[in-house]
Amino acid sequence: MSAYLLAGGRVLDPGSGIDALLDVLVVDERIVRVAPDLAGGTGGSGEAGAPHASDLPEHLDPVDVEVVDVRGCWVTPGFVDLHTHLREPGEEDAEDIDTGSAAGAAGGYTALCAMANTDPVCDAAVIADLVWRRGREVGLVDVFPVGAITKGLKGQELAPFGELNASAAGVDMFSDDGIPLADALVMRRALQYATAFDAVICNHAEEPDLTVDAQMNEGAMSSVLGLPGWPHEAEEIMVARDLILAAGVDARLHVPHVSTAGTVELIRAAKQRGVRVTAEVTPHHLLLTDDLVDCYDPVLKVNPPVRSHGDVRALREALADGTIDGIATDHAPHLPELKDQEWDHAPCGMLGLETAFGVVNTALIRSQTLDPLTAIARLTVGPASVRDVGDHGGGGPDGGVAEGATANLAVVDPDATWTVDARALHSRARNSPYHGRELTGRPVHTLLRGRFTLRDGVVQRLEVVA
Ligand code: DOR
Repeated sequence: MSAYLLAGGRVLDPGSGIDALLDVLVVDERIVRVAPDLAGGTGGSGEAGAPHASDLPEHLDPVDVEVVDVRGCWVTPGFVDLHTHLREPGEEDAEDIDTGSAAGAAGGYTALCAMANTDPVCDAAVIADLVWRRGREVGLVDVFPVGAITKGLKGQELAPFGELNASAAGVDMFSDDGIPLADALVMRRALQYATAFDAVICNHAEEPDLTVDAQMNEGAMSSVLGLPGWPHEAEEIMVARDLILAAGVDARLHVPHVSTAGTVELIRAAKQRGVRVTAEVTPHHLLLTDDLVDCYDPVLKVNPPVRSHGDVRALREALADGTIDGIATDHAPHLPELKDQEWDHAPCGMLGLETAFGVVNTALIRSQTLDPLTAIARLTVGPASVRDVGDHGGGGPDGGVAEGATANLAVVDPDATWTVDARALHSRARNSPYHGRELTGRPVHTLLRGRFTLRDGVVQRLEVVA
């Protein structure tokens, strides 16, 4: 048996709306008590001492309860990332499920949705199950594979959604992420097919005819730098098309990495009309802008590109008002020898798991763009509403910081200021755009089913029994 009392923290539980100083008692896999002053009767104000026997379930002796002092920290549901590139199978030299899971645990995540653009592509049950099972073996986060929409991401023949859905991984989200599904007929069929499983289709929103050779956001800076621009219309045309198609067949559409103000407007209007659409935004699109690209550092090259200040403002507003449902990292590790090339040749993508909370806290919470409870909602219940991630993210009867819920938890220190060192991250790759940058806010502990996967900032791997 294990028993921990997280004592003196501020519980932020978006599912129930609770924002209060409460102690949280975790026994084995579950949260058994959430109440004030369980720790030595003093709770948040005094020393975090041993709990009183009268506050504990009958079978529990106070000496068996380890008190973990979390004063000054927020206790929240474990974060859920809808959009992670774990690169396994096939590109394990950039990342694998072990290193990506460690990065997730260090970032406060208990659930990661692994994108399908691996090698081989996740377009068959055998691949989805491998990814799901490997996640369980590593045991640091739960990994939920995203299935490909089309076989081999080729944009032609649909992947076997039924087989993927019926697999142990229970795939209910499909995406060819990285490659837009340009053929409207295939997209329409995918949306229709997905309704049979109440699954969600996530199309990489980019009209490819408008982005041939594109290197960065189209605007004044792309003209100054002489780099071919990536117009905002490329994203918006595709989103508009997909919204029309999804509405036509009453299917569920998820828009990944929204990057423009125009896309926000399209989604807002569609939601008002009752279209079944959800959307995500990345931490980097909430913070970084295209004027930073004048250093030509390819670490800033990403798809979709970082945009203008006006776009960032619109994305922040959309996250605050719920037009955008959740924050997703688009964590995209790349080998240094590929990424550290001149701009034109470098692949798109940046790391995001370990810095997500710091970026959100620094850019949105401390600037009072988002209140803490809403920000945590966008990292937890928001993403968890897009697809089935079981008891992660704080929704449903088994989720949240609530008595009886599975203890999938993040404990974050909102005042911890740290300088990002890409070499010290758990990810195998190094392409963090925040290297050398100061962020405020950092996960301290993460618990997966009542086990610490991050403790005092240190990732806790499962002991391998020989
Ligand atoms: O920048 C990106 N990198 N955007 C994507 O959509 C794909 C990702 C990758 O796989 O590297």
